Amino acid sequence: MISFEGLYIIYFICAILFIFAIKGLTSPKTAQSGNYLAIIGMLIASFVTILVLPSRNDFGILLSVLIAGLSGTIWANKIKITNLPQMVALLNGFGGLSSLLIGLAQIFQQNTQKIDSSLGIVVSSIAFSGSLIAFLKLQNTYKLPKLPYFNFLNLILFFCIIAVWFEFSVSKNIYMIYVLLGLSLAFGATITMPILGADMPIVIAILNACSGFAASFIGFALTNIALIITGSLVGASGSILSVAMTKAMNKNLISIFFKTQNNAQNKALSQKIAKTGSPADAAYLMKNADKVIIVPGYGMAASGAQYALKNMTSVLQNKYHVQIKFAIHPVAGRMPGHMNVLLAEAKVEYDDVYTLEQINPEFETADVAYVIGANDIVNPSAKTDSSSPLYGMPILEASKAKTVFVVKRSLNAGYSGLENELFYAPNTLMLYGDAKTVTQEIISML
Ligand code: TAP
Repeated sequence: MISFEGLYIIYFICAILFIFAIKGLTSPKTAQSGNYLAIIGMLIASFVTILVLPSRNDFGILLSVLIAGLSGTIWANKIKITNLPQMVALLNGFGGLSSLLIGLAQIFQQNTQKIDSSLGIVVSSIAFSGSLIAFLKLQNTYKLPKLPYFNFLNLILFFCIIAVWFEFSVSKNIYMIYVLLGLSLAFGATITMPILGADMPIVIAILNACSGFAASFIGFALTNIALIITGSLVGASGSILSVAMTKAMNKNLISIFFKTQNNAQNKALSQKIAKTGSPADAAYLMKNADKVIIVPGYGMAASGAQYALKNMTSVLQNKYHVQIKFAIHPVAGRMPGHMNVLLAEAKVEYDDVYTLEQINPEFETADVAYVIGANDIVNPSAKTDSSSPLYGMPILEASKAKTVFVVKRSLNAGYSGLENELFYAPNTLMLYGDAKTVTQEIISML
């Protein structure tokens, strides 16, 4: 049997593993080993926690671990990368539900009115119902009801939760927990329902932080330090991610939760003419270039062009000795790290991949910017048009390259629904077509 001190030392080791895991996840080079560290830490923490349970049903535990582990593995292997946000939303929901059930068991089984359990119940209920709604919205399976006066309703629910929580903490009336549970579940749902599609990833990061903090509160209730530490790590990293994403998308949390109008304001289509280039033009200019910067966006992911892109860069680098750099915008694609994951999958060298801050000063000296399936993240109106909803969002300054090739199927707008002046710039040539097909055509020319 493990002693009390022994248990704490093991939990401490797990906490160190989790911290190194998060450190590993900060770079694509080390992300996989970071994941393995987290898996090992979680396995050890779960195993010793089960081992020290005063009474336990070994068969039941083994069966649950097998069923859950197996379905998780199958699901994670099958999921399409474009559906990852839904999966993350649902997993957050499961995290919230686990904390919720433990918090309720803690209160009812021990007949205590612990503040940490009740806080855990509030936060985990919000994470649970909010994540389910986020999942349904992303899945587009149900049309969610459009309730009138959402903002007003949310404010009322918020103040009711605070009032009932105080009442519960003071009166110790255990039945108030049902009211608290109902209000928190309703609040999680109604705060997520009106969120616009573009803001969903930020909300998922916030719900992720909630499920972490909920686990942490429950950790206090159970005096389980592994749970306190993992919960805090998830809570803190989820919060930092939400702040980073709001900055990168030029939003603020108040506008996300309290603005319900659609920001996809389609302006009248431009009468201007965009010049068209051909794969032969692109091949000629790129093979004669000193420096080419590639700007991938959602369209690269949609067409699965990353492998063709890798082949094209290999030919340009090895046969024509062109310097190639990849420019990654923090919100390119549809989820954080979307482009990094796809480029890593296609074995693009990590050292060729640059962040927005690193690459922007380099466009001026680039002969060609190859913008593949990207739109909003290179839209100059974010810098020049104060009436644009994108105004203030940092962009990749592809327009500063000598020649810009934009690969997409049409002049249609991107996620924001806004026209893009870059397509009509004097140094831009449009390469119309599917991102993968166009890139393959360029390779054959090269
Ligand atoms: P978008 O602005 O959405 O533009 C993508 C472009 O790809 C579209 O204009 C589309 O044009 C083109 N495209 C689609 N399928 C294609 C294909 N098969 N071949 C070639 N082109 C194709 O993407 P972006 O520049 O990556 O910007 C991301 C946007 O999504 C931002 O507004 C961001 O705020 C938002 N957003 C990001 C996230 C995260 S966390 N990354 C989450 C939610 C929303 P055609 O139809 O003409 O081909």
